[in-house]
Amino acid sequence: MAVRNAIMANEKQFKLLTKYIATRGVDEYRQTVRVLVKPDDAVLEIGCEKGTTSDILSRATKHLIATDISDDCVAMARERYPHIRFEALDAFDIRSAMRLGAHFDKVYIDMSGLSSYRALLDVIALITMYASVFEPDAIIVKSGSLKQFAKNCEAWKWHSQSAEPE
Ligand SMILES: C[S@@+](CC[C@H](N)C(=O)[O-])C[C@H]1O[C@@H](n2cnc3c(N)ncnc32)[C@H](O)[C@@H]1O
Repeated sequence: MAVRNAIMANEKQFKLLTKYIATRGVDEYRQTVRVLVKPDDAVLEIGCEKGTTSDILSRATKHLIATDISDDCVAMARERYPHIRFEALDAFDIRSAMRLGAHFDKVYIDMSGLSSYRALLDVIALITMYASVFEPDAIIVKSGSLKQFAKNCEAWKWHSQSAEPE
């Protein structure tokens, strides 16, 4: 009985519908663009560096804002791809991110340092924050440790046969 009440309480909680797509390496990360990004999608890219993935994203949608914490990277990317909107942004500064737009359908994240196991909590905190604020359909993140972690996760489904006798 106590278990059932706990489940009902959880069902009242706000549930994020955002899918988290974890990729290992830049090739996998870029491969997702062709599969996931639709022409009308508003996309926020975080960690654009020189803009190589931004260029791929810009062929899939016209509604792209590409960002990086480094002013030098943003300057270089603007020079290489003048048709794309590049902005300086520290991904952890969510208020500045909110000034870029109210809603994004896809958020792409490739930030240095997100692949190690020690960074896993930072990655989860970051993607949960972007999911809560922008409610995108999907957040695509380049993080080998998140991908490995996700492979080992399984969401337990309620089995009525396994309920404790009352
Ligand atoms: C591996 S590079 C990105 C490569 C790029 N996505 C591509 O496909 O060519 C990682 C980038 O993350 C940026 N970065 C690191 N910390 C960041 C932060 N807190 N917010 C935004 N960008 C950050 C770095 O400046 C760097 O350009």
